[in-house]
Amino acid sequence: MVSIRRAEMQDLQHMQHCNLWCLPENYTYKYYLYHGMVWQSLLYVAEDINSGRIVGYVLAKQDEEDEEGTKLEHGHITSLSVLRTHRKLGLANKVMQSTHRDMDKIFESHYVSLHVRVSNRAALGLYRDKLGYETFDTEEKYYADDENAYNMRKWFRKKPEKQ
Ligand SMILES: CC(C)(COP(=O)(O)OP(=O)(O)OC[C@H]1O[C@@H](n2cnc3c(N)ncnc32)[C@H](O)[C@@H]1OP(=O)(O)O)[C@@H](O)C(=O)NCCC(=O)NCCS
Repeated sequence: MVSIRRAEMQDLQHMQHCNLWCLPENYTYKYYLYHGMVWQSLLYVAEDINSGRIVGYVLAKQDEEDEEGTKLEHGHITSLSVLRTHRKLGLANKVMQSTHRDMDKIFESHYVSLHVRVSNRAALGLYRDKLGYETFDTEEKYYADDENAYNMRKWFRKKPEKQ
């Protein structure tokens, strides 16, 4: 059985471990600590109750300014992954919905943004088809290996006219 809960400080190292198994985009422990200290209410983990292992997580934060310099409170998904052994069980969907709820209700975010590789079929299926994200922009050579990224957004509040 897997439980979805808010991350605690002692989970950060396990989230980093999960990230290292799942993604080429990795971060220093200091970066996890920053998220944990400032945005703890937005961090969620999927914990395998039997083993106590963290099998998935979402690392997220809030931002006030967008790429165009417009002041618009919004959330941002820094990283999301689920261990191979626990995929296709709805865990990513659940941790994402939990952080979305907090961005919307606690921080009154207008929208949430993220970057995703254009070739990441699984993540695109989740973001676009399941969670209702739309492509806002394509960023050329965004990743270290030169792959392009979709910059995606999901709106919680009415989209301003010019967006
Ligand atoms: C992307 C990822 C987080 C999805 O995690 P998950 O827990 O398996 O996803 P869920 O079970 O919640 O799936 C929700 C939806 O996502 C889509 N999806 C998930 N895996 C998919 C796949 N392999 N192919 C196509 N669509 C997929 C489906 O729409 C699915 O809904 P459905 O089960 O009703 O069909 C996981 O594959 C992963 O960790 N990948 C490596 C890291 C990564 O790419 N992170 C995202 C970086 S932007």
